[in-house]
Amino acid sequence: MSSSRREFLTAAGAVAVSGLLGGVAAPFVSRARAAAGLKIGLLLPSSGTFAPLGEAITRGAKLYVASKGGTLAGRAVDFVALDDESAPPKAAELTNRLVFGESVDVLVGTVHSGVAAAMVKIAREAGVTTLVPNAGADAITGPLCAPNVFRTSFANGQIGVATGRAMLAAGIREAATCTWRYAAGEEMVGGFKQAFEAGGGKIVKDIALPFPDVEFQGALAEIAALKPQAVYSFFAGGGAAKFIKDYAAAGLKGTVPLWGPGFLTDGVEQAVGAAGEGIKTVLHYADGLSNPANDAFRAAFKAAHGIEPDVYAVQGFDAMQVLDIGLAAVGGDVAKKAELHAAMAAAKFASPRGPFEFSPSRNPKQNFYLRELKGGRNGLVGVAAEGLADAAKGCKA
Ligand code: BEZ
Repeated sequence: MSSSRREFLTAAGAVAVSGLLGGVAAPFVSRARAAAGLKIGLLLPSSGTFAPLGEAITRGAKLYVASKGGTLAGRAVDFVALDDESAPPKAAELTNRLVFGESVDVLVGTVHSGVAAAMVKIAREAGVTTLVPNAGADAITGPLCAPNVFRTSFANGQIGVATGRAMLAAGIREAATCTWRYAAGEEMVGGFKQAFEAGGGKIVKDIALPFPDVEFQGALAEIAALKPQAVYSFFAGGGAAKFIKDYAAAGLKGTVPLWGPGFLTDGVEQAVGAAGEGIKTVLHYADGLSNPANDAFRAAFKAAHGIEPDVYAVQGFDAMQVLDIGLAAVGGDVAKKAELHAAMAAAKFASPRGPFEFSPSRNPKQNFYLRELKGGRNGLVGVAAEGLADAAKGCKA
């Protein structure tokens, strides 16, 4: 049995166990085989520092489809996955392979902002229904926005602004920034600086490393010498785990509080252990969020995979929720693009993250939560920003 088929069946079993299915449990696998196929292309990393993020998105997406009996709007879902390696030079060839080679009905991708921007340039020209389940590149819901492109995660500047405001509210007035030098790092720092400086904060130093470098000693030595009041940092996946451990080993934990967008600590809670205790982050998801959609989602995910879900799994799950809402409006006919995309743009539902709706640029307008990492959980501290939209600068479609 292929690993994706095994994963799908595991997710399906878990959904049936958890009750998320809402009464459509038993014979869905055979029903799925009988229905006309809907081909969904997944362009996600399954190797490199962002591989765990790609896996979590895939699991979230498959969990939602399993909760619908393996079908969306009555069409059996067939996933076709390619590893983009978070390598921008490979993006165009891989996107073309999915859109034109595989003729996917729907394109879902990806994690890395640079890969996603290249993917979206092709997708908007091709007109293929596209969902971005992570990458925050501001351009995707800015100058590159298009009626067929939807993002179920966040915009980099949007989360930077939310984190800047939370740090000001915590009484921080001086910070150094430390990140990877590519669109996500630069834009998350950009949004942060815009909000932080507007509120009277001062940036003492911007430190940036090439992506995906994890040799942090030089950066940590600079931070130790500067002794800022706090550090604002974007790293994710394997890189984030190493940064947090190196930060503690350098003796900075406890002397210079480490903050950042929640990607710094999501999915790496177990890997960082005590080194991560007390790190405060801001994200559109938190472990302690209690709402019926999240309770059901978490139970189903845990039953399927034996671990707690993270924000990436939520974003994958919600990508399929948005698609499902659109497909229901057109009876599963993806060729009815104008109606399909209008219904997706109007989607409003209870996400595990809280209320979900799109801004006019088709990026989520959503709550951002202040969290603190304690005992392996990014626990909810409070709401950092309510119903915050992306800047969507330059979006004309
Ligand atoms: C990005 O490249 O947009 C990104 C990667 C990992 C986590 C968050 C954002």
